[in-house]
Amino acid sequence: MNDLALERRTGLPEHLRVLAELYPRETWQGHPNFSGLTAFWLERHLMFRQLMARLIEGSERHLDQTDPRFAAEMSQYTGLFLNQLHGHHMIEDQHYFPQFIPLDSRLEQGFEILDRDHHALDGHIHALADRSNEVLKLMAAGEDEKRAVDLLAATQRDFSGFLLRHLEDEEEIIVPVVLEYGADLE
Ligand SMILES: [Fe+2]
Ligand SMILES: [Fe+2]
Repeated sequence: MNDLALERRTGLPEHLRVLAELYPRETWQGHPNFSGLTAFWLERHLMFRQLMARLIEGSERHLDQTDPRFAAEMSQYTGLFLNQLHGHHMIEDQHYFPQFIPLDSRLEQGFEILDRDHHALDGHIHALADRSNEVLKLMAAGEDEKRAVDLLAATQRDFSGFLLRHLEDEEEIIVPVVLEYGADLE
């Protein structure tokens, strides 16, 4: 299970891709069981990807050439991103995963992986919040923040890698289950 940890794996193992192989990503939208709720759930994932990219861009821009909007934007987007992501995980843990786990016993380990990912991401959420606060504190005190922003950018890039891995694998487990069994994300 260790090489399936969020920080190490490069995708889902073959035996958990049985349904994903049956339903390639490009066929999802045209499938009769693809509902508005599934589309909405995928749009949330897209929003997380976009916010993450925006945070990284903001840090890199500020390192490159001091950006007067950096602190306000970073603070606002980080807060929004981390709050929304935490809420999103709670809905998945409490409503989506328990609904879907009984539908296909072949995917049981897949849901274990996703559950572990959420725990791992929790730790990374705290690390990202701490690094962000460190930068804001230095800036509020009028101290040089560039080294801290450099560390923040590295933490953001790591986070992005873990997040993208989780979202992609989660989508490739959940959406095929929705399509195969006509289940819904409600
Ligand atoms: Fe998730
Ligand atoms: Fe998700």
